[in-house]
Amino acid sequence: MTQQETHAQEAERRGSFSSRRVFILAAIGSAVGLGNIWRFPYVAYDNGGGAFMIPYLIALLTAGIPFLFLDYALGHRFRGSAPLSFARLRRGTEGLGWWQVGICFMIAIYYAAVIAWALRYTLFSVTEAWGDDAAGFFTGEFLQVSDPGVTAEIVPGVLVPLLIVWAAVVVVMVAGVQKGIGAVSVVFIPLLVITFGALVVRSLFLPGAADGLDALFTPDWGALAEPGVWGAAFGQIFFSLSIGFGIMITYSSYVHRDTDMTGSGLVVGFANSGFELLAGIGVFAALGFMAQAEGVAVDEVAQSGVGLAFIGFPAIISEAPWGAFIGVCFFASLVIAGLTSLVSVIEVVISAVRDKFELGRAQAAALVSIPAAVLSVLLFSSTSGLHVLDILDHFINQFGILLVAVVSMVVLAWVLKVLPLLQNHLNRNGSFRLGALWRILVSVVAPLALTYVLLDGLWNDVRTRYEDYPGWMLGVFGWGAAGLVIVFGFVAARLPWRKDTPMDVTDDEEVQA
Ligand code: ALA
Repeated sequence: MTQQETHAQEAERRGSFSSRRVFILAAIGSAVGLGNIWRFPYVAYDNGGGAFMIPYLIALLTAGIPFLFLDYALGHRFRGSAPLSFARLRRGTEGLGWWQVGICFMIAIYYAAVIAWALRYTLFSVTEAWGDDAAGFFTGEFLQVSDPGVTAEIVPGVLVPLLIVWAAVVVVMVAGVQKGIGAVSVVFIPLLVITFGALVVRSLFLPGAADGLDALFTPDWGALAEPGVWGAAFGQIFFSLSIGFGIMITYSSYVHRDTDMTGSGLVVGFANSGFELLAGIGVFAALGFMAQAEGVAVDEVAQSGVGLAFIGFPAIISEAPWGAFIGVCFFASLVIAGLTSLVSVIEVVISAVRDKFELGRAQAAALVSIPAAVLSVLLFSSTSGLHVLDILDHFINQFGILLVAVVSMVVLAWVLKVLPLLQNHLNRNGSFRLGALWRILVSVVAPLALTYVLLDGLWNDVRTRYEDYPGWMLGVFGWGAAGLVIVFGFVAARLPWRKDTPMDVTDDEEVQA
C-alpha cells in the first residue's frame, strides 16, 4: 500500500473535517464556551477591571497563541488523538496524552451540568420563574443546595435537563467528526453570534449601561502587582482557548495535511478573545443597568462566576424592559456556546479510545458517554452538586490544565528538543511563519510564567482551604481528582497499541524537504 493510501485509510477510519472553514468553526465552537460568557466578565472585573486587559493580552500573546500552535503542530503532524500523537512523537510521552484525556473526562462531567442549568433557565426566563428572589431561587428552589458534603438526593429539576444535554451529546458524537461536530458548529456558531449579538445590543441601550462599562474598564493599576491577577489571566486564557487539554491536538488531526494551520490559529485565537470582550461588554452593560435600578454601585451587583449568570442575570431580566427577550438570548447563548465546547471536550476521550482499541464510532461514543453521563448525574444533579462542581472546576483547571501544559512544554522543548521539527511542519503550509520568537515563548517564557502561576496557586491552596470546604471534600474532589488523572495517564499509557496501528506517519513531502 502506498503512503497516500495509508493516509487516506486512516482519515477514513478516524473521520475528518470537510474543509478548513469547518475546522475553524469547530475550533471556535470549542473555544467559545461557558468560560467566555460567564467566567471572563467576572474574572476580568475581579482582577483589576480594565487593567486586567494587560495581563490578559500578555498571557494571550506569550502563552495562549504560541501554545495553540504547539497543540496544532502535534495533532496535525502526528495525526492522532492526544495519546496517539504523543506516542507517535516518542513512545514514552504517551502518558501526557492520557493525562489530558483524564482532564477532559473530569471537565465534561461538570460542564454538562452548567449547560443543563442554562437550559432550564432559558425556560425560566420566559415566565421569570425566580420571582423577586433570584439568589434564593437558584440555591434553594432550583438546586436545593445542601450543606457542604455529599448527598445522594437527586433534584429532578436538574436531572431532566442534564439527561437532555447528554442525549444531545451522544447524538452528535455518534454522528461523527464532520456530520456531528462539524455540522453542529456550522449551524451553532452563526446562531450564537445572532443570539449573543442581540443581547449585547439590547444591553448597551439599557439606562445605566455606561456605568457598567466604566466599572469593567476603569483600570486598577495596583492589581498588576498581585500575582493572583496574572494567575487568573493565564488560567482564563488556557481554559478559554481550549488548549492544554488535548482538544486542539484532536481537532487538528482531523484536518487535511495541506491546511494553513498558523493562519487558522490566529483566526481562532482572536475570534475567541473578541467574543470574550463582547461578553464582558454585554454582561457589564446589563449590570450597570441593574446597579442604577437599585441605586447601588456596580460592584454590589456583580457576583462570582456561577452567581453572575444564574443570580445576577435573572435579577436583571426581572427589572429590564424586554426582560424575557434578554433572558432567552443570554441563557440560549450559554447553551449553544456550551454544547459546542462540551462535544469538543468529550471528543478528546472518544478519539483516544477509538485510536487505542479500534472501536467503531458508535461503540466508543457509548463506552465514553454513558459512564460520563452516569457520573455527571450522580455527582451534579444531587443537592451537593454545586459544591463538588466548584471544587472540581478550581482544581482541575489549576493543577490539571496548567500543570500538564507546563510539563508538555518542558518535555517537548528541553527533553525531546522537537520544537524545530514542529515549527518546520507548521511553516510548510502556514501563512504566518513561526521563527525563533515562537520557540523562545514556548520553551522559556510560557513555562516560566505558568510555573510561577502554579506555585503561587499551590501556595494559596496549601495554606488556606479553598472556599473553606471540609478538608475531606478538597482531598477527594480537588487534590484527589487532579492526582487521579495523572495516575490514570501513566496506567493507560502502559496498555499496548493494536499491532496494526501505524506509528510512523512521516509523509513523502517531509522526507524530501
Ligand atoms: N474553551 C471552553 C470554554 O471557554 C472550554 O468554556
